[in-house]
Amino acid sequence: MASPRPDLDVRLITKYGGPGPRYTSYPTVLEFQPQPDADQLIAAMRAGNDELVPADLSVYVHVPFCASPCFYCGCNKLITRSTTIGDEFLDHLALEIQRWTKHVASDRKVRQIHLGGGTPTYLDLQQIQRLLGLINDHLLIAPDAEIGLEIDPRSVTEQGILALAEMGFNRLSMGVQDLNAEVQKSVNRVHDEQMIAAQITAARAAGFASISVDLIYGLPKQTEQSFASTVEKIIAMRPDRVSLFNYAHMPHKFKAQRQIIASDMPAAETKLSIFYQSMDQLLAAGYEFIGMDHFALPDDALAQAKHDGSMVRNFQGYSTLRDLDLIAFGPSAISLVADTFSQNLHEYKAWRNALAANSDSNAGLAVLRGMQRSAEDRLRAEVINAIMCRSKLSFDEFEARFGINFQRHFATELDRLNELENDGLLVVGEQGLRISALGQQFVRAIAAVFDSYHPLRIANQHSDAPQLFSRVI
Ligand SMILES: C[S@@+](CC[C@H](N)C(=O)[O-])C[C@H]1O[C@@H](n2cnc3c(N)ncnc32)[C@H](O)[C@@H]1O
Ligand code: SF4
Repeated sequence: MASPRPDLDVRLITKYGGPGPRYTSYPTVLEFQPQPDADQLIAAMRAGNDELVPADLSVYVHVPFCASPCFYCGCNKLITRSTTIGDEFLDHLALEIQRWTKHVASDRKVRQIHLGGGTPTYLDLQQIQRLLGLINDHLLIAPDAEIGLEIDPRSVTEQGILALAEMGFNRLSMGVQDLNAEVQKSVNRVHDEQMIAAQITAARAAGFASISVDLIYGLPKQTEQSFASTVEKIIAMRPDRVSLFNYAHMPHKFKAQRQIIASDMPAAETKLSIFYQSMDQLLAAGYEFIGMDHFALPDDALAQAKHDGSMVRNFQGYSTLRDLDLIAFGPSAISLVADTFSQNLHEYKAWRNALAANSDSNAGLAVLRGMQRSAEDRLRAEVINAIMCRSKLSFDEFEARFGINFQRHFATELDRLNELENDGLLVVGEQGLRISALGQQFVRAIAAVFDSYHPLRIANQHSDAPQLFSRVI
């Protein structure tokens, strides 16, 4: 595949690299409202049970605890040293799972389970076993289900990784971020590179089918040389996937980020050059560019899904499985059942208290807000998915699936695309559109043209607008 590396075109980056959604969902969470409530979510699940072929399921559990704050972190977590909070969490999770799953037909298969956080491995091995048991007691897990979790390498041992494989986990993603000692110190996350290498080796020996590593560029004290060394060491460990996240600095939203000294952060141009240099290193080492910030080895399921067009984007980023109903447990977790989005209360204590209160008005659940997706939202979600995951879109396909005339339905959007086409980001033809190698870096901006809630803002036109999203690049 052609390298998606554009020339370092500062003009385009300024123009299209402003804040924008990451489209892990469309519409985005910003559109969620107090309604629909839990009853509507349950109604959607029950309607799904009655389909001739009900959708299979994906289960997400948000484990919100971490032992110490990493200063860059933008995840929903509770910093705690409590030794009892894990059991308390599981007691309430048991209530949530039991109250939710009684509305799920017993023959609907779970194809995917993911534990995210926070740090799922804040829970000890027995607690993780109990958590899997709770799912297994109430839902039918397919024998070949993808069962994954996020791992902070400071919170597990090699034996622990083996034990996780024995429990049935077959996917893991490890938060590494950066291997340089200075960078690690400046973000309050210090761990040893030998330990990470040993854990990856242990995971491979234990039979994990996909091992992923998270890196972040743009962190304080990073230089082109220091990050090149981190990437080189990670390549030597040969994870199946690498996520190369752009550091999203939003200190007004994430308090811990206020500890980051702004003058320690690399300048915008250095940051960009770190990204392209890392991309070159990964491509040269045989990784494929999957999209946005993801890379995978060619034999990994994600690379294969990208090739056969089955890859989708969901709350976990890029994923191999499509058309699943998502049931999500834990604070801030978001479910998507048919066209009903539903998000739980954000804070751990609020979530716990809602479940303990067992209120009739919310079906005993901890739902905060959500959204009923319209047919138009669904159509646009599919267009955005095609742009983000397949880099091309055929008008015929959409016309057959949605009964529209694409060019008429999206006349305004196609008109707006002219400017992006003139800038070389894509080609619009009679049959469809195709994103160029240059445009691969701006897929969020191209997708935003089809977003009717937050249409693409060309940078500097709205510089006084509040920053709701992280920057595109
Ligand atoms: C829930 S966290 C990872 C799990 C585990 N707690 C850990 O730290 O290893 C998921 C990933 O989000 C990424 N992340 C967190 N905050 C970020 C930020 N502000 N900008 C970009 N990426 C971020 C990190 O790469 C992190 O590994
Ligand atoms: S990066 Fe991971 S361990 Fe660090 S604070 Fe965020 S969720 Fe917790």
